[in-house]
Amino acid sequence: MPKLASYNGFIDSIENIKISPMSRAFLFSDSVYEVISFYQNKFIDFERHLDRLKHSLDETKIACSIDECSAEIKKLLNESDLESGYIYFQVSRGIDSIRSHFFDESDCERFGFIEKFSFFNQSPLKVMLVDDIRWQRCDIKSTSLLGNVLQMNDAKSMDCNEIIMHKNGQLTEGGASNIFFVKNNKIFTPKLSPNILPGITRHQVIKIIKQKEFDFIEGTFDINDLKEASSIWFTSTTKGIIEVKEIVNLETKINPKCELLKVCKEAFVSKYFS
Ligand SMILES: Cc1ncc(COP(=O)(O)O)c(C=O)c1O
Repeated sequence: MPKLASYNGFIDSIENIKISPMSRAFLFSDSVYEVISFYQNKFIDFERHLDRLKHSLDETKIACSIDECSAEIKKLLNESDLESGYIYFQVSRGIDSIRSHFFDESDCERFGFIEKFSFFNQSPLKVMLVDDIRWQRCDIKSTSLLGNVLQMNDAKSMDCNEIIMHKNGQLTEGGASNIFFVKNNKIFTPKLSPNILPGITRHQVIKIIKQKEFDFIEGTFDINDLKEASSIWFTSTTKGIIEVKEIVNLETKINPKCELLKVCKEAFVSKYFS
């Protein structure tokens, strides 16, 4: 079956979808998005993804019915024969007659596609610590990802598959994931702020940590905390929970046999993927 996509509610093979070059998504990255996973034909935490999409739409003042988005995302899954994967879905402010920074009322433009993906057996990551050069509203899931893209590709040239970003030494998040670390048998993660995306997987993992009654702190942490960490993990919709094996430009005390990580990972897989 060819890769299926949806454009303003019409489903077709992705090769047949035509998008105007006057789309504000193309001209300005004036668009927001979600990545929603599904397993055994069922979405994982669908409503929470929709709530975050609504937050992104409201904060960017893109007028679009969330019910319409929800129906279109569900239709993509229903029309596909895939059992495990994710749907990428973006909403732009629409198509302009001229390229103007000023926007007026226009119809929002919705585009999504469905992709096969296996969530298991992902290898530990080699990462690079980099400056967080992004804008100040990273809580919005905007398609303007140039800061992430540039830093991730610098890291790739050092044979890394992810980055850990910091603002003046203060940890924010990964290039496409949230970060957790373990120190003295306690689990830590940067608290929510406009500098990080409120990850859906972050939320799921925190729920597990609280259910297990592990020592846990959401707060403000810096590079020195990472130097002392015995385990560092990323969380995201496509990664699930995945550990860091090495930070190429920072000496750490990572121990690959972290019991807290093992327990959280097992609980996560059993809750969402069984
Ligand atoms: C910058 C950033 N932070 C965090 C995440 C993790 O969010 P989620 O768990 O909702 O996939 C992502 C996911 O793409 C991301 O791009």
